[in-house]
Amino acid sequence: MSHSYSDGRSLNGSPNATFEQVLEARLSRRGLLKGAAALAAVSALPLSLGACATTGLRREGRLGFSGITVSTADAVRVPAGYSAKVLYAWGDPVGHPSGSPAFRHDAGNSAGEQALQAGMHHDGIHYFPLPYGSENSVNGLLVMNHEYTDDGLLHSDGFASWSAEKVRKAQNAHGCSVIEVRAAAGGQWEVVRPSPYARRITAATPMRITGPAAGSAGMKTAADPAGTEVLGTFNNCAHGYTPWGTYLTCEENWDSYFANSGTLTADQRRNGINAKGRGYRWEEFDERFDAGKHPNEPNRHGWVVEFDPYDPQSKPVKRTTLGRFSHEGAWPATAKDGRLVIYMGDDRAFEYIYKFVSRDAYSRSDRKANANLLDHGTLYVAKFNDDGSGGWIPLVHGQGALTVANGFTDQADVLIRTRAAADAAGATKMDRPEWIAVHPATNEVYCTLTNNSGRGGKDRPGTDRANPRANNVFGQIIRWRESGNDPAGMKFEWDLFAIAGDPQHPDPARHGNIKGDAYGSPDGLWFDDGGLLWIQTDVSASTQNRNHYERLGNNQMLAADIRSGETRRFLTGPSGSEVTGVVTTPDGRTMFVNIQHPGEAPKGRNDPKNPKAHSSWPDGAAGGRPRSATLVIRRNDGGIIGT
Ligand code: FEO
Ligand code: CA
Ligand code: CA
Repeated sequence: MSHSYSDGRSLNGSPNATFEQVLEARLSRRGLLKGAAALAAVSALPLSLGACATTGLRREGRLGFSGITVSTADAVRVPAGYSAKVLYAWGDPVGHPSGSPAFRHDAGNSAGEQALQAGMHHDGIHYFPLPYGSENSVNGLLVMNHEYTDDGLLHSDGFASWSAEKVRKAQNAHGCSVIEVRAAAGGQWEVVRPSPYARRITAATPMRITGPAAGSAGMKTAADPAGTEVLGTFNNCAHGYTPWGTYLTCEENWDSYFANSGTLTADQRRNGINAKGRGYRWEEFDERFDAGKHPNEPNRHGWVVEFDPYDPQSKPVKRTTLGRFSHEGAWPATAKDGRLVIYMGDDRAFEYIYKFVSRDAYSRSDRKANANLLDHGTLYVAKFNDDGSGGWIPLVHGQGALTVANGFTDQADVLIRTRAAADAAGATKMDRPEWIAVHPATNEVYCTLTNNSGRGGKDRPGTDRANPRANNVFGQIIRWRESGNDPAGMKFEWDLFAIAGDPQHPDPARHGNIKGDAYGSPDGLWFDDGGLLWIQTDVSASTQNRNHYERLGNNQMLAADIRSGETRRFLTGPSGSEVTGVVTTPDGRTMFVNIQHPGEAPKGRNDPKNPKAHSSWPDGAAGGRPRSATLVIRRNDGGIIGT
């Protein structure tokens, strides 16, 4: 999400240094280049990727399409020789065996119908071949997040006559979809309806809580005195998955759904909860969202949720071992000894990058043996040193600063208050960590730092080498390689893959150093099996095509060859949309991309009286309102996407 509903949210006010605050209150252009060159030199040997280009990859990816120009059109554009078709838009039936209610373009569907239809605001997406363990590229399950809602579009009359039914509809428009998809000859994809796998997970779906925080004092509520079961997941942003074919959905701006007209606890303040909430108004008809009356209910959100898309009866599980913050996503890598590593970003200004390392190796042959693997392991937070080195600090009760004397009662407390623990550990405050991508052959890790206009501001942390620009409106992509090239390593070397910007910007400090097509606010990030790095942008509708962004067009997706550093624009989205979520089938010949919030209003929600004010994509004149949607992208000759 572009955070247009989230202005003025929490700020990490902890005093731990951004480690080189004493240096460079403001980075000069010359200093930036010098620093980048120095870091490139530091990392040239360990980060050299040429030797890996033909080893370890399923295929070799080289940029093979003609880059497209920026666009301000209310349309999706892709390169010559490609097609992009809408597969699954908000309100389309999921294909559940109990019924397939059609979308009403006047937004007149009921809450019950919404629970059987695609949610709003598609985000992270993953493809699971059918059956499990196969590499089927013409039949599989697509699992995706529906991050949030615009109630100005969700209901025919928006917030008018706000009711329990409208809150239920909004809750049912959140969560995840599991849909079965298949392709006929020639790559004509369709949603299979009905399908025994079809499923919606919503903000009301019962879930188990496991790991060290389950059943602890901080997780108990009036409705759940045991502290082991919670209703629902919401504000699910980027995706995640495990090697054993489960999906990881991540709770990002969960704090926006709570209000507390009483006294905020320190943790509620740290996580951004305020008196009135941020306009979702669930607390008016669902009391658990009143954090004054139910102070522990917020503790039950901000986690990573695992579920098995191959088993539609399975109960989702919130894995507290992976920590609680604004989870953008969760991306796996396999340690040399077979343990699972999961990389995660906390997308808020001045928050942190984390990784989890499982206690046990996972089984490659028996997926059931991994059912509770994510309940045991260690959470670490990253420190990026100015000399290009870095390290992981364990967030383990009793170690370092995480002691009773410092106010941490036990490991459950450390995990519930992950941000406070990371503050105490002295982690590096980053420019809003979004997606993370692990190179399929080298295990090198890339992370988008989308922007941070507060960097270097009054009473805000200053710049450092990893976050080198004050008032950082364009963002950067950082990358690192773990010691011993082992994802479980405790030290790493890092550099900046790209500093985003506009080479035509009147301020040279905002030119960035992108080699190829320009972009800003990188967010989605994904490696395909050929090693091409796909970059998606999330420029807020309040900024798109104006001010700093007046030359960069609508949000977009680009592909980068990390060996040469060249970046080429592949797709441009409709007006006001964000491009987020990308995956291909195992053969690389079909790509799925999500378009989120076409027609997002520059400020606040849309006006229900004029729902097509900012976009009418994808239905055009025939439709009643813009809709988020999943695209199917194919090369007209059936070739591998991007090459
Ligand atoms: Fe939902 Fe950080 O983007
Ligand atoms: Ca974003
Ligand atoms: Ca995002």
